[in-house]
Amino acid sequence: MHLARLRLRDFRNYARLDAAFVPGFHVFLGDNAQGKTNILEAIYLLATLRSFRGVGGAQMIRHGQKGYFVGAQIVGQGTHEAKFYWSPTERQLSLDAQPVKRLSEFLGTLRAVVFCTEDLQLVKGTARMRRRFLDLLLSQTNPAYLPLLQRYAAAVRSRNVLLKHRPVDEAALESFSREVVTAGEKLVALRQELLPKLSPLARLACRRITSDSEELRLEYQPSYQGDFAVALAKARPRELAFRTTLIGPHRDELNLLLNDQPAAKFASEGQKRSIALALKMAQAEFLTGIHGSPPVLLIDDVMGELDARRRKGFLPILERAHHARSQVFMTCTEENWPRDLGLEMNRWQVEKGTISPVTA
Ligand SMILES: Nc1ncnc2c1ncn2[C@@H]1O[C@H](COP(=O)(O)OP(=O)(O)OP(=O)(O)O)[C@@H](O)[C@H]1O
Ligand SMILES: [Mg+2]
Repeated sequence: MHLARLRLRDFRNYARLDAAFVPGFHVFLGDNAQGKTNILEAIYLLATLRSFRGVGGAQMIRHGQKGYFVGAQIVGQGTHEAKFYWSPTERQLSLDAQPVKRLSEFLGTLRAVVFCTEDLQLVKGTARMRRRFLDLLLSQTNPAYLPLLQRYAAAVRSRNVLLKHRPVDEAALESFSREVVTAGEKLVALRQELLPKLSPLARLACRRITSDSEELRLEYQPSYQGDFAVALAKARPRELAFRTTLIGPHRDELNLLLNDQPAAKFASEGQKRSIALALKMAQAEFLTGIHGSPPVLLIDDVMGELDARRRKGFLPILERAHHARSQVFMTCTEENWPRDLGLEMNRWQVEKGTISPVTA
């Protein structure tokens, strides 16, 4: 799968961009604040409909404009045209000129994995970041996952509204509790099934980037023990006091254990970086295994932050992408890193919201 064309209108500092990309490696070169990361953000947006910077749509609209547009031609099994217009009052998402009714139908069109500085939040941030990581990966691999997650989230929201009102509408609460339990149990099961597959990949990736010195293990920790329905009934008095749904997959945790110790508490900054990188490498490996071809890799600057040893551990994933003729987009301010990679590169100069191929 590859991104053959990218069109931007009023996206960040791009008033207008129309670019064609061949399969293979692309590197965006340029000084700070020229628009390198913004391009990766747009590509990631087409894959996930989210910014990897964790911001909402309004921030991505070019200053002074009403809305942004991102469009792409994606070539995989067949050619697809994706178009996404966003403004605070209007959203239009289409695939092959048909409005997209269910997000799950759209999400597999472009598969991407991003490597960026924000990844560190997977280790340092709240459990929500790690759940989101699992949810994205499961959405990228199982078409039934996202609808289930949306069903669950809607039921939890309704439940929370009921828990805030007095007197509590017991009958309605009961019916949403059933929905929460049915969808929630399935979500937890799918996340738990993922872990034995993901954890060894993350462990291997971590060994590679730390030259075998660190052992990473992932562990899924549900917010309740035993039967969800029983636990939810038991939590009722506390829920009435806190006026919100206190247990379920929206409160579960993905534990990151480095040498059997919780990483957030004990790992050094460098170790945390290695763990974040290992998680993303595992995501890419897992997607490759499921779909038979690598996802598009978006690599923002992170290479510059890695020491030689960790760069070397990262190489196999790039080499695999190279052999599969899949696409890799990376950004950097200096050209040092891509050059020592020794791979054929398409170079682009990024300057004030424009890009042009570098021929020399
Ligand atoms: N909504 C927006 N409208 C207009 N310009 C924006 C908007 N959001 C960000 N910018 C500008 O886009 C420019 C480029 O941002 P980007 O993050 O892509 O830079 P970069 O080339 O990756 O730089 P660095 O090397 O520092 O990471 C910045 O000057 C920023 O102020
Ligand atoms: Mg940048």
